[in-house]
Amino acid sequence: MEETINFLKEKTNNFEPEIGIILGSGLGEFADEYCEYAIPYSEIPHFIKSNVQGHKGRLVFAEIEGKKVVMMQGRNHFYEGHTMSEITYPVKVMKKLGVKTLILTNAAGAVNESFRPADLMIITDHINFMGANPLVGPNDDTLGERFPDMSEIYKKDLIKIAEKCAEKLCLDIQKGVYFASSGPSYETPAEINMARILGADAVGMSTVPEAIVANYCGLRVLGISCISNAASGISGAQLSHTEVIETTDKAKKRFKSLILEILKSI
Ligand code: HPA
Repeated sequence: MEETINFLKEKTNNFEPEIGIILGSGLGEFADEYCEYAIPYSEIPHFIKSNVQGHKGRLVFAEIEGKKVVMMQGRNHFYEGHTMSEITYPVKVMKKLGVKTLILTNAAGAVNESFRPADLMIITDHINFMGANPLVGPNDDTLGERFPDMSEIYKKDLIKIAEKCAEKLCLDIQKGVYFASSGPSYETPAEINMARILGADAVGMSTVPEAIVANYCGLRVLGISCISNAASGISGAQLSHTEVIETTDKAKKRFKSLILEILKSI
């Protein structure tokens, strides 16, 4: 960790970000426009490369709307074969860099049948159905407790701010529970039925490990999903990653204006 932090501080002239943003599938372009320092993951000690289609794999530092921000342009996923501890390492790095608030974004399938593709959804809570927890293993007491409370990962005041921002921009916004499956296969219709019965509104293959670790180490979390498709079995259509990327592309203007407004307000 010390090696990673020293490297980043040197590369960024001691940039001290207060807000972190993890940009999900199809949403990474946001960081291209606001980019003071961009460091490929492959150059950062102890980071793993990102190689999923639709992801760039850089850590980007910039001042946006008067806020110092560090952005992950693309994330690593559990389904790539990395460990939970590997994929959540960047969150711990953000904490050590001084980040206080983490905005997690992703593309997700709609379990809630009233959601439409390209809708944005504020995450109110999550269900971890990945079959693993990123905090398993020896605990680092300097970061957080052994048995951390998870009763309000997605902070209510941040949710309110995000809602107000959407209202100000006249954007319709959804709210709901994000259900994380490990992937990489999409779910079956029966699994989506189960997720709905369990209280899910959207389903995806990311975000939850980072949210758990962020909350554990005292970061305030806001989560935003871009609904990229109706989940398996809802429309009868087959699911594809191409569709996910194409639909998030349609939402990216609204996504960008919402993130900018949120940065102004927090
Ligand atoms: N399921 C899981 N992950 C996803 C989906 C989905 O339908 N859409 C985008 N990411």
